Amino acid sequence: MMLVNTLRRLKWMIRFGKGGHSLRELPWIKGKLYVNRSGTLRIGKRVRFVGKPWATQLTVEKGGVLEIGDHTFINAGVGIAARQRISIGSDVKIGPRTSILDSMYHQLDANDSPDASKPIVIGNNVWIGTRCTILPGVTIGENAVVAAGSLVNKDVPKNVLVAGTPARIIRELDIPEGWIRQ
Ligand SMILES: CC(C)(COP(=O)(O)OP(=O)(O)OC[C@H]1O[C@@H](n2cnc3c(N)ncnc32)[C@H](O)[C@@H]1OP(=O)(O)O)[C@@H](O)C(=O)NCCC(=O)NCCS
Repeated sequence: MMLVNTLRRLKWMIRFGKGGHSLRELPWIKGKLYVNRSGTLRIGKRVRFVGKPWATQLTVEKGGVLEIGDHTFINAGVGIAARQRISIGSDVKIGPRTSILDSMYHQLDANDSPDASKPIVIGNNVWIGTRCTILPGVTIGENAVVAAGSLVNKDVPKNVLVAGTPARIIRELDIPEGWIRQ
């Protein structure tokens, strides 16, 4: 298993370069990770991806930027598509089958702009549960939790639990200074 992961890291290094990381700091990938990159992809140290039983997919379109901070964990079947900019902080956890997209990709009607994209920012130490959808233009404050199955279409303050479709604040969380969620 260790050998498989080392080979995956080497494969990653050949394709994307080391980005200043040592081999140990390169992404840890279990299963299938599809990367469609025409723009800028920045991956922090020791980011972990799970790609089974559902493949995980990162798409960065031409001119777009996708940044993923150190020690972030991205679970199976997650889809992230950056047309403009998606910034994911450090120590973020993203649950299975969550979608994060900064563009609607299709027009609503004839008055709608064909390429309207709005940047997404996900703060450090955020936990996004399984099967959530994060829509364009949203900022999720640090340490926040997005409950399973939520649709986030408005900004989320730091240190709160949000839930539902659309997501609403359920309560404040007790987050000591410097605390990182396990
Ligand atoms: C949010 C969560 C952690 C529970 O937190 P909690 O503090 O124990 O919350 P409670 O169960 O006490 O619920 C508090 C309120 O939020 C609501 N709520 C909780 N989870 C919800 C969800 N996923 N969607 C909608 N509402 C939800 C509850 O119905 C309750 O509302 P009420 O006060 O009107 O009855 C849990 O529901 C959850 O979503 N976990 C995510 C699990 C996951 O996706 N793991 C992925 C592994 S990476």
